[in-house]
Amino acid sequence: MNIGIFDSGIGGMTLLHQALVLMPREKFLFYADTDHVPYGTKTREQVVSYVDGVIRFMMAHDCKAVVIACNTATAVAAEQMRLKYASLPIIGIEPAVKPAVAESGGKRVLVVATPLAVHERRLQQLVARVDDAHLVDLLELPGLVEFAERGEFVSDRVSAYLKERLSGFALDRYTELVLGCTHFNYFKDTFRELIPPQVHMIDGSLGTVRQLMRVLASRQELLEPATGSTDWEQCKNDICVRYFESGRAVTDAAKLERIGQLHERLEKMQNL
Ligand code: DGL
Repeated sequence: MNIGIFDSGIGGMTLLHQALVLMPREKFLFYADTDHVPYGTKTREQVVSYVDGVIRFMMAHDCKAVVIACNTATAVAAEQMRLKYASLPIIGIEPAVKPAVAESGGKRVLVVATPLAVHERRLQQLVARVDDAHLVDLLELPGLVEFAERGEFVSDRVSAYLKERLSGFALDRYTELVLGCTHFNYFKDTFRELIPPQVHMIDGSLGTVRQLMRVLASRQELLEPATGSTDWEQCKNDICVRYFESGRAVTDAAKLERIGQLHERLEKMQNL
């Protein structure tokens, strides 16, 4: 059986990358919905129908669990999909607001996400639940997904865009930056240059992979790693992932090489 992981595009590879390290014996399908990217500027109805299509694809491809590796799609569609496909474990990434508030030391927390996620009730309810001291600010970054999909991770335009979007915030009053869209992890080096050193970046991918492991373990469906801890260097030659773009298998050598480069970039971004 497979584990299906999907996003509107390359953002979800952040989560896949962590899953490969923590669950090296599993077989994965990674589905990027490239025909419909970006989700974050679409209507909720559109996103629900895209997500529904992806989940049906995953079920037809023998998946024992599906991970929504897209904060926007989780916010909009996870609840509905869990009701509709009750026998399938559906795990959704969410912005790491709770750990960020817990670690903020009473200083401010900035959550960056897509416009659709920022305006969804689900994110606002999450903030209301964990932010008793009103430390959290939300900021939409509508342009960053398109930069990522173009492979433009480091450029003057990216820096200028982020600088302008962050300019309204007194960042010395913040200790946490929550990357509330999986695509944003590709830009951690530029964020790092623009935010003060005390600001720590956090995203929900590790917590989501751990949740996936707990869910599979509770169903006796988790393949434990043969040895103790693993790392990317150890597992990268041995990984088992099939990649799809909106349902079409990626077999083209140039595209697969680009995917390898994205993993290398994510590995570099990990400890920033
Ligand atoms: N990567 C997705 C997320 O985490 C959204 C990207 C998009 O707008 O398509 O929200």
